[in-house]
Amino acid sequence: MSHGIIRNRDEINEDYISSFLNSSIENGLILVAILEGRIIGEIHAYTPKIYAFQHILTDLTIVVNPKKQGIGIGRKLFERFLEIVDKDLSHIKRIELYTREHNLRNVKFYESLGFVNEGRQKDKIFISPSRFETPLHMARMASDSNK
Ligand SMILES: CC(C)(COP(=O)(O)OP(=O)(O)OC[C@H]1O[C@@H](n2cnc3c(N)ncnc32)[C@H](O)[C@@H]1OP(=O)(O)O)[C@@H](O)C(=O)NCCC(=O)NCCS
Repeated sequence: MSHGIIRNRDEINEDYISSFLNSSIENGLILVAILEGRIIGEIHAYTPKIYAFQHILTDLTIVVNPKKQGIGIGRKLFERFLEIVDKDLSHIKRIELYTREHNLRNVKFYESLGFVNEGRQKDKIFISPSRFETPLHMARMASDSNK
């Protein structure tokens, strides 16, 4: 059972990395955590190039170097990300992410940052022809769009 991001190892390739870098730099937000000159964490999300979705940051992904997990880097990165969105990106009213349903640690982490569970997407993740996993779709609304 996997606990992390949905892509498999082979899919974290140059094409994927340049594609999310371009989308996040041009039309979203990306932050990195640096320790002793090395990148040890990263968070990004971007706005889809669709008029109707211009108020959304989607596909949010956060990763921290496995050797540096559990010591507060992920929370710090995420809080800074939300602070910048709330302060500087006032057109963004909704931030979206997927997380694996069984990864309760991640679900609780996202809930503590204001994300709500919008529902299960049963068997959306293919593991093998007879095994699938169910992610949750979660979203955080800007405080002024809850009215
Ligand atoms: C999810 C992830 C980014 C969190 O980063 P991190 O630096 O490990 O997280 P933090 O140390 O800041 O902890 C965040 C929260 O996770 C929980 N947590 C941390 N370590 C934990 C542990 N060993 N057991 C249970 N919960 C734990 C706590 O609720 C913590 O909240 P707190 O700040 O109130 O204590 C990181 O673990 C990671 O890269 N995981 C693999 C990739 C992944 O799953 N990405 C998310 C999918 S997009």
